[in-house]
Amino acid sequence: QVAAASGHTVVLVDQSDEILKKSTKGIEESLKRVTKKKFADNPEGGADFIQKTLKNLTTSTDAAAVVHSTDLVIEAIVENMEVKNELFKTLDKFAPEHTIFASNTSSLQITKMANSTTRQDRFGGLHFFNPVPMMKLVEVIRTPMTSQKTFESLMDFSKAVGKSPVSCKDTPGFIVNRLLVPYMMEAVRLFERGDASKEDIDVAMKLGAGYPMGPFELLDYVGLDTSKYIIDGWHSLEPNNPLFAPSPLLNKLVEEKKLGKKTGEGFYKYK
Ligand code: 3HC
Repeated sequence: QVAAASGHTVVLVDQSDEILKKSTKGIEESLKRVTKKKFADNPEGGADFIQKTLKNLTTSTDAAAVVHSTDLVIEAIVENMEVKNELFKTLDKFAPEHTIFASNTSSLQITKMANSTTRQDRFGGLHFFNPVPMMKLVEVIRTPMTSQKTFESLMDFSKAVGKSPVSCKDTPGFIVNRLLVPYMMEAVRLFERGDASKEDIDVAMKLGAGYPMGPFELLDYVGLDTSKYIIDGWHSLEPNNPLFAPSPLLNKLVEEKKLGKKTGEGFYKYK
């Protein structure tokens, strides 16, 4: 959405036409929200902006068939290293020589993904934040193999889509999640111990620290499965680090398929 809205030609790829239809509808709705504010006094300009953005966007269910026309691939599939590597390996065969590959992973090692391809110097991380149309940040991750030219291209692309990039080495959680995920897990542990209610913890962090959402609201917003996946991955890397300890409550909710806003229930219930 943000790439198309800033004038880039985008091919959105997913596994089925049904998912692509749902994604396109989501983009249309999000564009309406963005436009309402940006073109408050100019509804015609807003309609034109939506039309132009959607014109930049096509869809496909066959990544290998469309990758030949790309300068940049941004992968945002399931957080599973094997599945990601399999995809990158395939795309590496069909993509032009100059094409840069980037992953939007929240917590997996970019270096390992780069090593599944023959373009380690043209590989990096581009980590966006929910909700992407609103959040200004992009983390640009460089591995020891990422070339200066690739790094600069990723920084330039982030600016071209209207974001403010920061750079980080390929370390677990990069900057934001390395700080945010342990904080959210500490909130769950505070609640698990019975020290405070989740509602009070959320109010406390909003009114006492100026956060736009409390930790439980944010966990539900990000998705409890995503949060569990991140913490489990880090726990396996550093089993003795108490900040990365798994939470019985989070595990229970995920087991019950209460994944947050997207399933209608997580720590809170949604209509
Ligand atoms: N598309 C377009 N616009 C959107 C949107 C979307 N998906 N979601 C929200 N907005 C817009 C609304 O239309 C609204 O616009 P307006 O000001 O013109 O009315 C504006 O955002 C504010 O939305 P709301 O009034 O509905 O609600 P809030 O004022 O509470 O803002 C929020 C919503 C921007 C999500 C804010 O609560 C927030 O910043 N929350 C924290 C989000 C955060 O921490 N994200 C990072 C998560 S971590 C992550 O993503 C990393 C990953 O790896 C796990």
